[in-house]
Amino acid sequence: MVTSDHQQLLEHPVTTGDGVAGVERPRSLLEAVEADPTPLLDLAYRHVVSARLFDRPQVVQLCRLAADIETKPALLHLPLSGKIMISAFYEPSTRTRLSFESAWHRLGGDVISITDRSTTGIAKGESFSDVAEMFSNYGDVVVLRESSESAVYEMMRGLRIPIINAGNGVDEHPTQALSDIYALLKWNPSLADPTYRGGLRLGVIGLPARMRTVRSLLLLLAHFAHAFEEVVVVSPDNSVFSDGQREELQASGLRLSVTESLAATLPSLDIVYINSIAWVGESYERLTGDLKLSAASPLKPDAIVMHPLARGEELDTDLDDTPHNWYFAQARGAVFLRMALLASMTQRVSDIADLPRPDPATHS
Ligand code: CP
Repeated sequence: MVTSDHQQLLEHPVTTGDGVAGVERPRSLLEAVEADPTPLLDLAYRHVVSARLFDRPQVVQLCRLAADIETKPALLHLPLSGKIMISAFYEPSTRTRLSFESAWHRLGGDVISITDRSTTGIAKGESFSDVAEMFSNYGDVVVLRESSESAVYEMMRGLRIPIINAGNGVDEHPTQALSDIYALLKWNPSLADPTYRGGLRLGVIGLPARMRTVRSLLLLLAHFAHAFEEVVVVSPDNSVFSDGQREELQASGLRLSVTESLAATLPSLDIVYINSIAWVGESYERLTGDLKLSAASPLKPDAIVMHPLARGEELDTDLDDTPHNWYFAQARGAVFLRMALLASMTQRVSDIADLPRPDPATHS
């Protein structure tokens, strides 16, 4: 039945354009960071399983390349024509699968997909290492999401093509973290400058122990520790960090604290990163309680809110039309960041961007 509300929607053409905070920012990042493709050379044909793969220059240059792509109306060349991505999602996804597939298509490649575990050999008991053998014959890169932490490692052993971890259980989601950093660098390009002492305070609402996006993000944030006064984890849980996690992050320079009180902490935060879903036991668990954000929350006027999405009731939709909303910018930028990563992994960077020639003296 067409209601009057539906009728109103039907009467208007679609508004083209972007409609999210941050779309105008890639140019600021381009201007703030000098192009240097040299760090990206080391990403050629590498497996991307953990955020630990990336050093600071690689993260910054990937984000700069993403900004370069984001500011272009279209690519002049389609460097991955004839190449195939295997998009293997044994667990649900909206953003990661579609943004990877969009990125590969935008580079000119073709995609073959698994979107339903029950239709694959894994459902019949086939091993991931056998599946890896087939993948090596059928495609040029694999993007894998799987509920177990170990499947990506089982596959890596036999693979003859690179694999990207698109979420392995509770462990990591490195390209989500790269997309998060891309959003942060667009918001404040000074973060890329290692001499910048921003004194920023970033709050993580959620559990670094059990949230893969947060686990990977904290590893990458450590490269930008110079800009942060503190990263505050807001959680009432007793086991906020997994074994050795806090020690690793602190050893890499990140100043960490933990608090239970969101209300007391929010007014001091410049960046609020909220997440709702954790892998607990054999299923997802939404962590809500009182840890919720809305337009009525005591946010700093210029604070930004980030969320890897999908959202639950912890993030009210009344924040969507406020300048605090940077979560849609995260999801949008993920396509360009993943294009930058895929171009680096397939050695096609020079086909899509005007960059200075890599310096052979600094590339071993
Ligand atoms: N951020 C993220 O991983 O979203 P999806 O689960 O939709 O891929």
